[in-house]
Amino acid sequence: MRKVYLDNAATTPLDPEVLDAMLPYMREHHGNPSAIHSFGRTTRAAVEQARRKIASLLNCSPGEIIFTSGGTEADNMAIFGSVRDLGVENLITSPIEHHAVEYVAHALHAEGRARIHWADLDAQGRVDMGHLEQLLKANPKALVSLMHANNEIGTRIDLHAVGALCRKYGALFHSDTVQTMGHYRFDLAQLPVDFITCAAHKFHGPKGIGFLFMRNGATLKPMILGGSQERNMRAGTENLYGIVGLAKAMELAYRDLDEHIRHVTGLKKRMMARLIELIPGIVINGDPGDDALYTVLSVHLPEDGRSEMLIYNLDIEGIACSGGSACSSGSNKGSHVIGYLYPGREGANVRFSFSKFTTLEEVDRAAEVLAKVYAPVAVKG
Ligand SMILES: Cc1ncc(COP(=O)(O)O)c(C=O)c1O
Repeated sequence: MRKVYLDNAATTPLDPEVLDAMLPYMREHHGNPSAIHSFGRTTRAAVEQARRKIASLLNCSPGEIIFTSGGTEADNMAIFGSVRDLGVENLITSPIEHHAVEYVAHALHAEGRARIHWADLDAQGRVDMGHLEQLLKANPKALVSLMHANNEIGTRIDLHAVGALCRKYGALFHSDTVQTMGHYRFDLAQLPVDFITCAAHKFHGPKGIGFLFMRNGATLKPMILGGSQERNMRAGTENLYGIVGLAKAMELAYRDLDEHIRHVTGLKKRMMARLIELIPGIVINGDPGDDALYTVLSVHLPEDGRSEMLIYNLDIEGIACSGGSACSSGSNKGSHVIGYLYPGREGANVRFSFSKFTTLEEVDRAAEVLAKVYAPVAVKG
């Protein structure tokens, strides 16, 4: 049986070109980048070249890129650091953020270090800008943390509009861009954000590496102590081959971006059309329009008595997808995003997420298998 992988929002396969870029740093160049001898100078040069490459793709300065172990750590650094080091007392966020943001906000609130304010959302998960403005007006010394695109339903916010509002009220703006980095262009010279985050494994880079973009002037103290790496912002020997792979993955992503968007958007539209054709009563979760993240399609199926088994049954048929976020892959339980937006709704939710390696045939097969597994009698052809 040919397996079909449609869980790319959880993680993507490594691009062979990325692996090729990483291999010399596994096989040959092993020096510690902090060492002053030639071995160390070689690997230091690779780390700094990667940083420069990323900065040039995002139009920021290399000093504004801090390598981390991925998206979770970068989100933690931005939010904890803003409260501890930048005088933030109010966190304005939304109830459908990734747990890497939500849990940090709850922890800071529980410790009495910051107050949380929840921005209202519409039925598709978009931020109510009028309410956001009220919150900003009423709560000075704020950090706004709103994700660029939701990893479960794909709804996307306008970073320029939110950032402009934050600037107007003197608030800091952090956006979890883990699902959009490598999938959209960012011009950080123009974009009014203070912190954005990246995880390489979401765009065919290695796992366990990412970065925090921190706008110059916002200086956070380290969360991890014990060395002067990353300009004293994050101690510990650098993930050398991860960093090299991350930069290569970004280079490839931006080299091929237009073709990638065209291909993946086509897959999503085809999947939507086939599912609507094959499965009566199916609805799209989140924003069904073209503003949504083109890599993610989340659908709701009315209760058929076996909803909780759906992801397992798809897996048995060789289709890998998710019931919600990566952490709840294989289960329809526990999605705080779906639970918040569609309270009390019965049935199953399935997230399909696509990549440049996904084919139209795979999408067609997945749609047919879902129709078969969900309600065998409903398959029309
Ligand atoms: C929106 C979002 N933020 C943060 C993360 C966490 O990233 P990482 O797995 O690199 O820590 C993910 C990954 O699932 C994500 O989708």
